[in-house]
Amino acid sequence: MTENVPLAGVIGHPIHQSKSPQMHGHWLRRYGIRGHYVPMDVKPADLAEVIRALPRMGFVGANVTLPHKINVLDLVDSVTDRATIIGAANTLIVRRDGTIMADNTDGYGFIENLRQNAPGWDPKAGPAVVFGAGGACRAVISSLLETGVEKVLLSNRTRIKAEQLQHEFGMRVQVVDWVQVGNVLEDAGLVVNTTSLGMVGQPELRVPLDGLRPGTLVTDLVYSPLRTPLLEVAAERGCPTVDGLGMLLHQGVPGFERWFGRRPEVDDELRQAVLG
Ligand code: ATR
Repeated sequence: MTENVPLAGVIGHPIHQSKSPQMHGHWLRRYGIRGHYVPMDVKPADLAEVIRALPRMGFVGANVTLPHKINVLDLVDSVTDRATIIGAANTLIVRRDGTIMADNTDGYGFIENLRQNAPGWDPKAGPAVVFGAGGACRAVISSLLETGVEKVLLSNRTRIKAEQLQHEFGMRVQVVDWVQVGNVLEDAGLVVNTTSLGMVGQPELRVPLDGLRPGTLVTDLVYSPLRTPLLEVAAERGCPTVDGLGMLLHQGVPGFERWFGRRPEVDDELRQAVLG
């Protein structure tokens, strides 16, 4: 008789683009942990059945990605505070009694990426200017507010979506018109792109960056390409920059630790394994 081998994986639709199997597979091999991490292509109509079956199939947990991050909240037994605030989950934990808890580690991943790659960044250095108001943006705003950023200046092409986020997150979030956002960069301590602009196959981010001051930290959630045009221009202007791959890597840490009992490291070897 062999002991059950713990299983984890990522549930999405489609799933071929996910880098999580490479990442968790690398950690499992590197730490010599008995376990498997598999990609699972699950259609929305099948999600409830698949989630319910996870504990009985030997899963210790799973990641959840598009398009299931919001719907999964209604299918689990409990939801952490941070997943509730963000309104979406990316990590499921199967407890010993077979119940499932949903968590969101995207905001954690975002902040840890900045801590690791821009240790000099001070959340109180000035307002954080955030482009976008989609799903990824919610995790960024909540983690920035939690980390002590005093003001978030939020700008989105569709203004009403930014206003909705302001309504939810409160007065520390202020909305700036999309065509005006270039004018508020001067005082920024941090600039974050959470839109898909600048991604391979997507239009360019056309915000004028002339106001960016050297020293302002600039980061992009887009990691394909790794050096987005935003990061290139920022670096030319003397700004420290942090690419978006690190957020993806760091968001995987809490799940791996809970499922497999070891806190994994985010380092260059992992980056190469995921990029390769
Ligand atoms: P995610 O979950 O990755 O944040 P999303 O919810 O689809 O993805 O959000 C995409 C973000 O990119 C939105 O802020 C979107 O702006 P709108 O709310 O106006 O749609 C932004 N975005 C996408 N294409 C854009 C474009 N051509 N110009 C400006 N913003 C764009």
